[in-house]
Amino acid sequence: MQFTVAIDGPAAAGKGTISKAVAAHFGFAHLDTGLLYRAVGARVLGGDEAIFAAQSLAVSDLEQSNLRTNEVAHAASEIAVIPEVRAALLEFQRSFSARDGGAVLDGRDIGTVICPDADVKLFVTASAQVRAARRFQEFSQTGVETSLSEVLADVIARDKRDSERATAPLVAALDAVLIDTSDLTIEAATARAVAAIEAAL
Ligand code: C5P
Repeated sequence: MQFTVAIDGPAAAGKGTISKAVAAHFGFAHLDTGLLYRAVGARVLGGDEAIFAAQSLAVSDLEQSNLRTNEVAHAASEIAVIPEVRAALLEFQRSFSARDGGAVLDGRDIGTVICPDADVKLFVTASAQVRAARRFQEFSQTGVETSLSEVLADVIARDKRDSERATAPLVAALDAVLIDTSDLTIEAATARAVAAIEAAL
């Protein structure tokens, strides 16, 4: 059985947590596509050329432990504007989405570009303030030294770059179900996602 769930939205809106939860709930495979861009960003920080890094990306690049840092996120959003980088990562994402047994892909352009025919599309969002506060709390818990205003500035800058780029900008597909998690617990947000998927199964 092929069944594709596309989950898009800005950073720290909760889409990663919701994606993992719905994949586990339905027994679907899950691909965090941000990790592909982060892995390319990390290679570029290491001195590689972006398009070459994207074209030669290997599983070992995705298994690096440093991909969740702010520095790598920043590098990822810079290389994500390059059309050839996006093109090099497209086929892997499409074949993942077509695997047997169902797939959940989360990112920025899954419902619009990668899987325009996805069975279910969700757009998970929250206010920039709420997202920055969540990121700040995560950073504090893991001992990363930063301030709330710095994290907020970073969230706003990344949103702007992701939304305004010419190729595959961050935008909700017209047929996406919108989930605003600003005032929702993660359980309530996940329940909405599960309900939207159940309605389409
Ligand atoms: O989701 P995550 O924060 O890991 O993504 C890092 C960056 O990768 C994003 O800010 C965005 O620029 C880029 N990205 C993208 N398209 C995707 C997933 C991520 O452009 N499908």
